[in-house]
Amino acid sequence: MRTQRLLLLVTACALCLAATAQTLDIQAGKRSAPIQPTMYGIFFEDINFAADGGLYAELVKNRSFEFPQDALQGWKAFGKVEVRDDGPFARNPHYVRLSEPGHAHKWTGLDNEGFFGIGLEAGKSYRFSVWARVPLGGSAKLRIEFVDPASAGEQQYFTQEHITVDSREWKLYEVVLTAAQTDPKAVLRIFLESRGSCVDLEHVSLFPTDTWMGHRNGMRKDLAQALADLHPGVFRFPGGCIVEGTDLATRYNWKNTVGPVENRPLNENRWEYTFPHRFYPDYYQSGGLGFFEFFCLSEEIGAEPLPILSCGLACQFQNDDPTAHVPVDELQPYIQDALDLIEFANGSTDTPWGALRAEMGHPAPFGLKFLGIGNEQWGPEYPEHLEPFVKALRAAHPEIRIVGSSGPNSEGDQFDYLWPEMRRLGADLVDEHFYRPYDWFLSQGARYDNYDRKGPKVFAGEYACHASGRKLNHFYASLLEAAFMTGLERNADIVHMATYAPLFAHVEGWQWRPDLIWYDNLSSFRTASWHVQQLYSAYKGQYVLQATVDGAPLTGAEGQQGLFASAVLDGNKVYVKVVNTAAEPRTLRLNFSGLKKKQRVAPLERVRFTTDKLYEDNSLEAPEQIVPETGPLPGDLDATGRGFDISIPPYCFDICVFNLQ
Ligand code: AHR
Repeated sequence: MRTQRLLLLVTACALCLAATAQTLDIQAGKRSAPIQPTMYGIFFEDINFAADGGLYAELVKNRSFEFPQDALQGWKAFGKVEVRDDGPFARNPHYVRLSEPGHAHKWTGLDNEGFFGIGLEAGKSYRFSVWARVPLGGSAKLRIEFVDPASAGEQQYFTQEHITVDSREWKLYEVVLTAAQTDPKAVLRIFLESRGSCVDLEHVSLFPTDTWMGHRNGMRKDLAQALADLHPGVFRFPGGCIVEGTDLATRYNWKNTVGPVENRPLNENRWEYTFPHRFYPDYYQSGGLGFFEFFCLSEEIGAEPLPILSCGLACQFQNDDPTAHVPVDELQPYIQDALDLIEFANGSTDTPWGALRAEMGHPAPFGLKFLGIGNEQWGPEYPEHLEPFVKALRAAHPEIRIVGSSGPNSEGDQFDYLWPEMRRLGADLVDEHFYRPYDWFLSQGARYDNYDRKGPKVFAGEYACHASGRKLNHFYASLLEAAFMTGLERNADIVHMATYAPLFAHVEGWQWRPDLIWYDNLSSFRTASWHVQQLYSAYKGQYVLQATVDGAPLTGAEGQQGLFASAVLDGNKVYVKVVNTAAEPRTLRLNFSGLKKKQRVAPLERVRFTTDKLYEDNSLEAPEQIVPETGPLPGDLDATGRGFDISIPPYCFDICVFNLQ
């Protein structure tokens, strides 16, 4: 009986303690580490139809007739259509010849299906362009149509324009069509209208005229805007595994993605067949969204460009055979690619690559500062391959900061082996990847607290909370990302960059989820994880402020009631980020210390990110069902003018904003 009573008493005390408010002591008067402008960024990879069919606004699939299995993949040809291969663009030699169908009641032409259809909006204009010639002379009239093939109406087309091809030489022709109706899955139809004529067509293209920043070879406006609104400090591109390729021949070669788009050769996309359960046999990279476009986008959204190049290792997940990789003594062309890239980005316009940049419309240097060599490489072969790059880059470009890799795992043998190797080689930053479950995120609040401060800095280059059995976007995963990110922020002296991954996914074309931004052909939505990234960026601050409970940071550790916190200084504002991962409400006393005698703290506002739809996210149908809300920060300062109580509901991410006066 006595023991039972004692047990009850102990339990009651424990419960009582758990409910007791903790005091977060914020050293508001003492700036700690500066937060790098690059801290929160974005990572682009052409996975999930992120480039062609996604961010890249081209609406025609297989525009150059180069898909290797079938030059007419994505097209439906009718009448007399012949594929030929002596076209005007050496690296994309195929084109089609349209000839007289041979009967007055037959037609010659082509339909293009686009990427999961062609998305058109009523009243918006689209630029159709084509390289063409009339090989036999004379002229040929083409009718260009937007078609709804499933229409039960009088006619299938809803918009029509004409082009007359009148030269024996290859020339660019174009016409702007204004869509008469909205159709997410239209077809582009080209009729050879004039009888008795013959016409050659190459690089058939259709872009909205209203692209991001109005660029001709442009990006989808809503998707680029979703990147700009993240205010990213760094922009990593072009991947990911596509940097490595399933084999070296199909690795991402930046040199194939610059210069005139018509002559950028097609490349296989490894995500075409990486997952047989999400299989896309028509997934290729046109290269239309290439390194020039990535650099321009970086500049336009204010992010430091961070290109990643192949280190001569093909994807190690897919290649056990050592002969799949480049022997170390044959790496020179790969090293030259890296040196040439720096020249392309930063070189003067009288260097060959700098001249190409100028020719493409950007004479001013892009100001490249960072370069990654290798993606998610591992084993002794990685440092062996990296070393000659480091030597060559240091000798020619000591100003460039080199990013190395710690492999595909957040811990373990490879990770433990690679970090010291990166230190030995003098990498400036080490890229860490972690797609991990709930428990991992909940347990990693203090991950960087004891990292060696002397070595390279951390680039958390790919991460997302992946729950087993629930590998999709939902609020709870984003909440745990927010909790984890307090640890990135508190350790801004060593963590210099962090990018969630992957960035984009087409709802009909994804291979990997969760992802940050989803879309179909006409609309898009920003996930809860996007909002977390956005909030961290918007409330990044300039300096870390020490914030501790009984001398220890709030990292969700035992006894800390599922709370995570960080604090930063931004001018004279203090942002306190608190994440409650518990199912119960919590209270927290904020105590601002280290201030000058006359200094006061004034509560300004609170940004609250929470929902009762824990395992849901935004969607195309409800794009804003889970969004942060900004309002006044309720409560009063205590008599000292430095203590403030906040209460945080269950499963909630709050940013409390104060003014230092
Ligand atoms: O983001 C998807 C993939 O995850 C990346 O391509 C690769 O780097 C990682 O394995």
